[in-house]
Amino acid sequence: PAKGKSCPFSAQARSFDPFGPAYQQDPSEALRFSRDSEPVFYSEAMGYWVVSRYDDIKAVFRDNITFSPANALEKITPATPEAMDVLKREGYGMNRTLVNEDEPVHMARRRALLDAFAPEALAEHAPMVRRLVREKMDAIIDRGQSDLVEDMLWDVPFTVAMQFLGVPVDDIDRLRSFSVAHTVNTWGRPTPEQQVAVAEGVAKFWNYCGEVLARMSAQVDAGEDVQGWMYDMIRQNRVMPDIVTDNYLHSMMMAIIVAAHETTALASANALRQLLTHRHQWQAICDDPALIPAAVEECLRHSGSMVAWRRITTKDAEVGGVTIPKGGRILMVMASGNHDPRHFENPDQLDIWRDNSADHLTFGYGAHQCMGKNIGRMEMAIIIEEISRRIPHIELADQDFTYLPNISLRGPEALHVRWDVTQNPERRDP
Ligand code: HEM
Repeated sequence: PAKGKSCPFSAQARSFDPFGPAYQQDPSEALRFSRDSEPVFYSEAMGYWVVSRYDDIKAVFRDNITFSPANALEKITPATPEAMDVLKREGYGMNRTLVNEDEPVHMARRRALLDAFAPEALAEHAPMVRRLVREKMDAIIDRGQSDLVEDMLWDVPFTVAMQFLGVPVDDIDRLRSFSVAHTVNTWGRPTPEQQVAVAEGVAKFWNYCGEVLARMSAQVDAGEDVQGWMYDMIRQNRVMPDIVTDNYLHSMMMAIIVAAHETTALASANALRQLLTHRHQWQAICDDPALIPAAVEECLRHSGSMVAWRRITTKDAEVGGVTIPKGGRILMVMASGNHDPRHFENPDQLDIWRDNSADHLTFGYGAHQCMGKNIGRMEMAIIIEEISRRIPHIELADQDFTYLPNISLRGPEALHVRWDVTQNPERRDP
C-alpha cells in the first residue's frame, strides 16, 4: 500500500507471520480472521499478499499467466551474504523444474513427461507399495508400540519415490538430511547462524544430484534397459534438449526427491493422526475398507501436507476485490481454503462421508496440479488398509506433536501409537 494513504488492512493482517506459533500449530485456524473478514491482505511482516478463501485461491491457481509460479521454490528467507558465498563456491544452480516453470515451456515439458503417470503405469507400482508396507508391519506387529513416522511413514514413500524415479539409493540417511536442508532452505526461516549450514547442506545435495544424474545418463547413453521417471526425462533430454534442458534435469532431480516423498510421508502421518482421533470414523474404516479412498481424500482436505503455495503477479491483478500490483508475491494458504465454509459445510469437522472432499486444494489446481497425486493417494490408501486390517485396535499415545518450522510442508515429526498385541486379529485367529 502506498505511503500517505491509510492502510486498508488490519493490524492483525499486517503483522501476520507464518513462522509464528499460531500458523505453525494450525495454519487453517491462524487464518480464520482472514477467511471471515479480510480474505486478501498484505503481510508487511513477510512481504507477501496472503489469499485465504477457497474461490480466490482457485482463481489464482487457474490463471498461471497472470499469476506466475516462478517464485514457487524461491527461498522464502533470503540467503545471507555468507550463505550466498557457500552456494556460489559450490556451483549451486537450482533453477526451473516443472512446478515453477512458465508457459509455454511448462506445458510442452509436462506433456513430454506424462507417460509414467498413466493409470496403467501406476497400477504396476501397487504390489511394490503393498509389499513394503507389509514388511514394515511385520517388523512392528508384535511390539505393541511404534513411532509410525520412524518405523514406516518415512521409509515407504521414500522407497516408492526412488523406485518410481529409478534413482539408485546408496545412502538413505544422507538423503534424509538433504531433504530437511532443502525444506528449510525453501520454506523455512533459518537464523543467520543456521543459514551457512543450510547452504552447505543444499549445495551438497545439489552436487550429489549431479553425480547421480551423471551415472544415470551414462546408463541411458549406453543403451541399458533402465526404468523410471528420471530415465524417461534423460531420454527426452536427448530428443528435445530445448524443452527438457540439462539444467532442468539437474534441478528436477533435486526438487523431485523431496516432492515425491516428504509430501506423502507427512500426508500419511496427518491422516492417521486424524482418523485415530475420530475413533468412530476409524472403526467405520476397519469395518468397511471400501471407505478408505474417501477417507484419504477427506484427510487431505482436513489436514493436508502442503498447506501453502506461492505465485507472483506478472501484471496488476485483482483477487477477491483487492488489487495486487505487478510483481506482488502471493501466498495461497490451501489449508485455509480447505476449511472455507463457503465451499465445505461444517469445514472444521473431519467427515469421511462428506461428498465434496475431493475438491480440496492440497494438490494445487489447474495447469500445474500435482502430477503425482494418484501415487500419493495410492500409498496413503495402502498404508491405511494394512494398518486397519492388522491392528484395528491401534490407539494414539499421549504426545505433543512437533513440526519442522516452515510455511508449506506440514506433518508431525513423530506419531507415537500403541496397541495390545494379545488383541492382534492374526493372533486370535491365525
Ligand atoms: C506439484 C502437492 C505427491 C510430483 C505439486 C503441487 C502441490 C503438490 C501443491 C503444486 C501444484 C500447483 O502449482 O498447482 C503434493 C502432495 C503430495 C504430492 C500434497 C502427496 C500427498 C507427489 C508425488 C509426486 C509428485 C508422489 C511424484 C512422484 C509433482 C510434480 C509437480 C507437483 C512433478 C509439478 C507439476 C507441474 O508443475 O506441472 N504437488 N504432491 N507429487 N507434484 Fe506433487
